[in-house]
Formats: sequence, structure tokens, C-alpha cells
Amino acid sequence: MPKGMEDFIKMKLAKEKIVMITAYDYVQAGIAGEAGADIVLIGDSLATTVQGRDNTIGVTLDEMIYHAKIVKSALKDTFVACDMPFMSYQVSTEQALTNAGKILKESGVNAVKIEGGEALAGTVKRLVESGIPVMGHTGLMPQFINVLGSYKVQGKIESQVKKLVNDAVALEDAGAFMIVLEAMPEEATLNVCSNINIPTIGIGAGRYTDGQVLVFYDAVGMLSQKPPKFVKKFADSRSLLINALKIYRDEVKSGIFPSKENIYK
Ligand code: KIV
Repeated sequence: MPKGMEDFIKMKLAKEKIVMITAYDYVQAGIAGEAGADIVLIGDSLATTVQGRDNTIGVTLDEMIYHAKIVKSALKDTFVACDMPFMSYQVSTEQALTNAGKILKESGVNAVKIEGGEALAGTVKRLVESGIPVMGHTGLMPQFINVLGSYKVQGKIESQVKKLVNDAVALEDAGAFMIVLEAMPEEATLNVCSNINIPTIGIGAGRYTDGQVLVFYDAVGMLSQKPPKFVKKFADSRSLLINALKIYRDEVKSGIFPSKENIYK
């Protein structure tokens, strides 16, 4: 049985950090599971990391479900959440219910994640009342890129912090079981965390959240572009893989590969 929402509350109370990582395919999901992630997220970041888009706006519901199905199939015993993509839940509560239901039914994931705060509280409440666990996401919300203009740190001024706190409280009151806080100064994070009781997961939000999340490719150092300041590369997989493929190329060209061990009799 995967961990559930009550386990995450227990972990928060026991001050055991919750570890979340994104995954987009079967191999990554297996690796994340074997490494002991508490939660695996099919993030809509797959729009940029897998699909090579400029931002997360274009990824579709069906594409998210395709990846979610594959990830969940590798992770029977891990709690898996899936992002609802841009404009798959903002239009109306009915739209959110239909699409969140479709994600859960077709992929088997355990929860959905949505970006937003107080304005979506009514929607979150209906989803939760209908049996759909909801993870909130506030602070920097990448789906707001066309309003923000760039991916800016949020909560640098008092009025923003007040809004972040209001949004988090509204999400908790509506029944969200957890909130992702993205790109915030630690002081703002502390302010939000001290006003709610559900677990918080940070990404670029400092040390005081109940857990952390990173994008898989960032954590293992697979991307060519320089990662943002909050990322720690726990490996340099890109160099490792390029070197491996260079050796493969050289061995094919020189006739070293395939050798006797690689040939059927
Ligand atoms: O889309 C995503 O991968 C996310 C996480 C980074 C929180 O929302």
C-alpha cells in the first residue's frame, strides 16, 4: 500500500521530511521508487523537460494522463500525484471535476495538483468532497507565466506575503491535503507554514517546509541549461551519458563493439 494523506500528516508531526520528485516515464518512476521517494509527481514541467516547450502552458490533459498512466504503472506502492494542466480546471468547478476524475480513473494516480489559492477554494472543496485528493501549489505558479512575464520569486513584499498566507489558509480550509510552495524567501515560507496545519513541500522556498520537491532532470543533472539557484545537482548524469555514448560511437567505428560476448551462436 502506498503512503497516504494521514501518513504525511504523521511525518509532519514527527518532523520527518517528506521527499517528492517528479517523474515522467516508467524508467524514471522506477528509479524514484527504488530511491525511496515518498511522493512522485507527474509535473506539468514535462512540457519543458520532455516536450521541449518554452513553458507549461501548452501541455494537454491527454498528454498528462499518458505520462501519469506510465509512471503509476511503475509505482504500485508509492503515492503518485499528477498536475492538472493549464485551463483544465480554471474554467468551472464542473470542468475541474470532470478532468480530475478523468486523471484519477484513467491513470490510477492518488491525487491531483492544481496551481492557485483562494480563487480556487470552491473548486478544491468540490473535488475533495467528490473523493479527489488535492495538493495545492502557490508562491510562483508557472501556469501564470503570461501574467507574470518571467519566473519571479514571490513573497518579497508584505502584501504578497499576506496574499500567500490567505491563499494557503483558503486551500487548507477547502480540504487540500498538502501545499507546494514555489520560489519564496524563507521568511515568507515561515509565515505561510506557521498559519496552516497541513504539510508543505518546498521548491526554492528554503529549509522550513515539511518536505522538498525537485524536477527529476534537475536533481540528476541531465539538462544542458544552467539550473536555477535553488536546484542542487545530486549527479552529473548528462556528462556521464554523453561520455557513455561517445565510447559506444568510438567502439562501433573502430569495430570493438560488438565483440564475441555480444554475438548469438
Ligand atoms: O510541474 C512540476 O514539476 C511542479 C513541481 C516542480 C512542483 O509543479
